[in-house]
Amino acid sequence: MARKHSRSEILGTLLRASVFLRPYKSRLTCVFLLIIVVSLFSLAFPALMGWVIDFVNGKHPAKLTWLLNLIIPKNATGWSAILPLLIINVFLLFARAAALLTRNHLMQTTGMHVTCDLRIAIFSHLQKLSLKFYEERQTGRVVARVTEDAGSMHTLVTGASVSLLGDLTVALGVFVLLFFLNWQLALTTLIFVPLFVINYFWHRRRMRFESRRHRRNWSRVVGFLNERIANSRVVRAFATEEEEEDIFRGGIQADYNNFNRVQWRNTLMGATAELLSGLGSLTATSLGIYLILHGHFSIGELFAFLGYLSLLYGPIVRVFEANTVIQTGVTSMEKIFAILDTVPHIPENDALPEFPRMNGKIEFRDVSFGYRIGQATLNHVAFTVAPGEMIALVGPSGAGKSTIITLLARFYDPSAGQVLVDDKPIADYNVQSVRRQIGIVMQDNILFSGTIADNLRYGRPEATQAEIIAAAKAANAHDFICQLKNGYDSRVGERGVSLSGGQRQRVAIARVLLKDPRILILDEATSALDSQAEKLIQDATEKLMRNRTAIVIAHRLSTVVNANRILVMEKGRIVDVGSHAELLARPGIYRDLYLLQFAEHAAT
Ligand SMILES: Nc1ncnc2c1ncn2[C@@H]1O[C@H](COP(=O)(O)OP(=O)(O)OP(=O)(O)O)[C@@H](O)[C@H]1O
Ligand SMILES: [Mg+2]
Repeated sequence: MARKHSRSEILGTLLRASVFLRPYKSRLTCVFLLIIVVSLFSLAFPALMGWVIDFVNGKHPAKLTWLLNLIIPKNATGWSAILPLLIINVFLLFARAAALLTRNHLMQTTGMHVTCDLRIAIFSHLQKLSLKFYEERQTGRVVARVTEDAGSMHTLVTGASVSLLGDLTVALGVFVLLFFLNWQLALTTLIFVPLFVINYFWHRRRMRFESRRHRRNWSRVVGFLNERIANSRVVRAFATEEEEEDIFRGGIQADYNNFNRVQWRNTLMGATAELLSGLGSLTATSLGIYLILHGHFSIGELFAFLGYLSLLYGPIVRVFEANTVIQTGVTSMEKIFAILDTVPHIPENDALPEFPRMNGKIEFRDVSFGYRIGQATLNHVAFTVAPGEMIALVGPSGAGKSTIITLLARFYDPSAGQVLVDDKPIADYNVQSVRRQIGIVMQDNILFSGTIADNLRYGRPEATQAEIIAAAKAANAHDFICQLKNGYDSRVGERGVSLSGGQRQRVAIARVLLKDPRILILDEATSALDSQAEKLIQDATEKLMRNRTAIVIAHRLSTVVNANRILVMEKGRIVDVGSHAELLARPGIYRDLYLLQFAEHAAT
């Protein structure tokens, strides 16, 4: 658990969280009423049984007679008193079971409703946040906001509300009734309650410490396991199986010890708690018998007293525990609100007009940009691409080529200057309507888990099977897909593990072909391919670029040779422009690059 929250912080956060409860107001009101009803039912049983026992002994109960008189005829004795009481008991038992059932069902479903709403709200907001947000955070942490932290809302609704309302009602009721039955007896036996609470918290503090150590070690073991299993290739390559096993054995041994420590503490806590509550009951019984023998108390009252006493301990612990539940819940809620409060990349996006159908003219007007403040990744970049033109971006690694296309797709916004399509600044339009008309084949092509067909359909969910096959054929992917066991229905893993780099690229090209964008951006993979795969991809790429404006970050000679123009980049600037022949004719970066990079490709 993180730091403790002050009362006003807790109230503020809970108040804000309650916005998510608002749609379920009537359900929650029912739940709260039922919580109280169930608690009151629980309080009725010991008294009822106490009365029965007194009647069995031929005594008329001395306390709460007005209530008794409501139930049975005045001065009734023997069976005529016992039978109605037993019938009421049975009736209450059924009524309580029904109330409990309804309460729990309503509570669980409402809790889950709220959690689902919260999860959807977080995911929806996450989708609007800038890429910078994700770059600054670990994926696992962001995922945990949706999975774990949102889940704590369920615990808040189901756990804390029952404890605070139900257990508090029971505990207070028991207190009052104990004193009402016999205040001297109540005072003596309640001495054990603080002892019980102190014992509980003393052990629990230690147990928390042990549990934390247990969890920390265990997550280390899990992390180790994940990494080694995912990278078992490395382990085998270095033949370090034995060392790995030793490390794992160490982790497991520590887990064994930690587990035992936690368990021991838990057992010890349970045993001492039982001992103390037992001592409390024993004291009450002995004193009660003494009072009975002196005629100040009845057996039925003692029975009821002991019954109430046994109802006391559980609720007391849970009420104290509710504090922890709330603290944890508040911590989770704060993390969630921190995400919901993060300003989206384009806050006004929904209000912006749709970009009309693109012609395909692209202009970078004096664009400067840095991923971080003060950094100049792009420096006064200016160029224009005519509709249908294909240009190649060339330059050393880190020159800023990929950055140019991230600005065109508006993953980021320039710090100065403008990006225009068809002479319209893209920043003035709804970002999805811009991106929908731009197709991007990235440097590393990630496929989502699902079938090949699902992945192809990603850019256009309504595509028919025939269209999918046509796109795959055009991308030279159809043949290899058909050779897979399940064809288009073959599943690909998280990153399409079962496909080679070249195959993945062709799937990615087909995916973009299906989307049929006006503007095409292609970040050629740097990985070398054999000449046959190269040929297939080159052919697919050419089809892809036909009738579209295309910007290709070129790593292949064939691409630059075909380009209408080549922009040469270095250190965030465009340093030269021309055709392949023109650029090769004069000394400069392009010629150097050609000799270094493309010439070897040309040789293969
Ligand atoms: N997300 C990012 N956050 C911070 N800096 C980045 C980010 N992406 C790229 N950079 C930096 O910006 C500069 C330009 O990167 P960019 O990816 O545009 O180069 P590139 O020309 O595409 O190189 P390559 O040919 O290796 O793909 C590099 O110095 C890089 O370190
Ligand atoms: Mg790049």
